[in-house]
Amino acid sequence: MTSLASIDPTGTSIEVFPDGELGVEVGVVRGADVYVVQPTGPPVHERLVELLLLIDAARRSGAARLTAVIPYLGYSRQDRRAAEGSAIGGRVMADAIGAATDRVVIVDLHAPATEAFFATPVEHLDAVPTLIERVRPLVREHVVVAPDLGAVKRAERFAAALGLTVACVRKRRLSGTEVETHGVEGDVRGRPALIVDDMISTGATVAAAAAAVRAAGASPDLVVAATHGIFAPPAVEAMRSAAPRALLVTDTVPAAEASGLATEVVSIAGLLADAIGRMHREEPLGGLVRHG
Ligand code: R5P
Repeated sequence: MTSLASIDPTGTSIEVFPDGELGVEVGVVRGADVYVVQPTGPPVHERLVELLLLIDAARRSGAARLTAVIPYLGYSRQDRRAAEGSAIGGRVMADAIGAATDRVVIVDLHAPATEAFFATPVEHLDAVPTLIERVRPLVREHVVVAPDLGAVKRAERFAAALGLTVACVRKRRLSGTEVETHGVEGDVRGRPALIVDDMISTGATVAAAAAAVRAAGASPDLVVAATHGIFAPPAVEAMRSAAPRALLVTDTVPAAEASGLATEVVSIAGLLADAIGRMHREEPLGGLVRHG
C-alpha cells in the first residue's frame, strides 16, 4: 500500500508569454497515477486553460491514469439554458475536461445532476459534514436558513445534524449582482439565523437573505456558512451589509484572505487527501461522496 505522505508533488512550471498565452510543463509522470489539483475560480478562464494544459502535459508525458481534482468548478451554475439563445457553460466545461481525463473529482457541485454532463466518471465529494462540525459550536437556538429554494436540501442536512429547524427565503435573481426577496417560509421570529449556501459569489444572495430574515423578525445574530467563497465584487460590501457574527467558507477557492473579510476558512485538504488516497488504492469512497 502506498502512503500519500511518502509522495512528493511533481514539479510544474507555468509561463505567461507576452501575448498572454500560457506555457505549461510537468515533471516526470510516465506510468504514474496522476492527480491534477486545480480549482477553476476567478480568474476563471486563466484557471481553466491552466487546468486543460496541465492535463495535456501530463497525458503527453505518459501518465498511466489521469484524474482532475477540481475543488470548485467554474461555470457549474450554467446547468441549463437561461434563454433560447443561451449557451450551457457547465456542459462545455464538462466536455473539455472530461475528454482529456480518466476521472474527475469535484467538491459540492451547485447542482449534483451536473455530474451527468461529464462523459468520464465523476466523484462528487461532500464538504457539508466538514462545515457542519465547524459550525456546531457556533449555533444554539438558530434557524437554518436556505437563502433560496435551491439551498433547501443543504439547509435540511445542517438542521438534521444540528437539531435545528429550517426556513427558506423566497428569492428571485434579477441579474448577476441583483436579487430580490419575497418573504420567508418558516418561523424565524426572535431566533438567530444560520444561512447556508453552496457558494458566495457577489454576496447578493446572502445579503438579501440576511435582510429578509431580519425583516421577518430574526434576531441580529447571524452565522453564514458556504462551501465556495468566491467573493467577486461587490461581495465585500454585500457581506458588510449582512454583518454576520461568523462567516465560514472552505478553501476550495483561495479567495477568502485576499477579500479582507473576517472569514473562518475551513480546510477540505483532509477530504481531498482521503479521497485521492482511496482512489489510488482502488478503495470505495463511501461517505466522502454525495449521491443525489
Ligand atoms: C444560487 O442558486 C447559488 O446557490 C448561490 O446562492 C448564488 O450563486 C450565490 O451568488 P451570489 O453570491 O452572487 O448571490
